Amino acid sequence: MDDSKFLLTGANGQLGLALRAEYPNARATDSKELDISDWGSVSSFDWDNISTILNAAGYTDVDGAETPEGRLAAWKVNAQGAANLARIAAEKDLTLVHISTDYVFDGTKSPHTEDEPLSPLSIYGASKAAGDIAVGNNAKHYILRTSWVIGEGKNFVRTMLSLGQKGVAPTVVHDQIGRLTFVSVLVGAIDHLVSTQAAFGTYNATNQGEPVSWADITRTIFHEAGFNLQVANTTTKEYYEGKDGIAPRPLNSTLDLGKLQAAGFTPNNWHDDLRDYIKKELNK
Ligand SMILES: NC(=O)c1ccc[n+]([C@@H]2O[C@H](COP(=O)([O-])OP(=O)(O)OC[C@H]3O[C@@H](n4cnc5c(N)ncnc54)[C@H](OP(=O)(O)O)[C@@H]3O)[C@@H](O)[C@H]2O)c1
Repeated sequence: MDDSKFLLTGANGQLGLALRAEYPNARATDSKELDISDWGSVSSFDWDNISTILNAAGYTDVDGAETPEGRLAAWKVNAQGAANLARIAAEKDLTLVHISTDYVFDGTKSPHTEDEPLSPLSIYGASKAAGDIAVGNNAKHYILRTSWVIGEGKNFVRTMLSLGQKGVAPTVVHDQIGRLTFVSVLVGAIDHLVSTQAAFGTYNATNQGEPVSWADITRTIFHEAGFNLQVANTTTKEYYEGKDGIAPRPLNSTLDLGKLQAAGFTPNNWHDDLRDYIKKELNK
């Protein structure tokens, strides 16, 4: 695929770094060069020779979005930013690839299909849902809805490995159920949809495998890393008791993968990718 016509936003984030590695000839931008939340920045950008926008930019601090400043930032980037990219894509006849989240749902259904009505619980989720609506109005769009992303950067697996290395036996929530998504799977799904010119629309994209809780994932991490430490279960309610400014989280994050598989892409099992990820982390 000719990646020289790809424009990448949020190039320093977890997904952005993985997309840069996959598409070395893509035009990679950060928020200083291309601030997606600012129409002036988007409209004055040189779009000549760009065919496809890969939007890896986002405000991703779920609890931060519950603060007055965070609420503004989340809406600015996730809703207005997505709308700005949708507008320029429509004006310049570009394909827009955008990333969404299980947080656009309240988590009462499982698994979530692509056509489930939006029902966000948190400010982050609402701002992402608004972005989905804006992007979904474009003819040439792919929205990849994902969950529990693991790549380069601060993430759950790294946090748990660091606790295990310090000998800490953590207490972890066992009532939020879902699947990890390694960035390699997300990049693979994007590449497949774009290169095969799959039908435009929304696709769920996570690793496949048994949906599990964060506590179960932690037990798997500790087992694979050889940490002989017990992981205790707690509920989301107990874990956040007495803490202010915590965003409500969907209890069921599992996304139905049937549409992506029918389009010809089969994601790896999360356990296999987790094992490889841990090996690499421990050999650093
Ligand atoms: N992480 C998850 O578990 C998860 C789960 C589901 C969905 N998602 C979605 O997946 C996408 C990528 O997530 P990620 O984990 O890779 O995020 P990330 O590591 O937090 O990276 C986000 C990037 O967006 C950039 N950004 C922020 N505001 C911007 C702006 N106004 N203009 C341009 N760039 C801006 C940031 O760059 P600067 O430093 O330059 O500002 C940052 O590098 C997001 O849409 C997110 O909502 C993530």
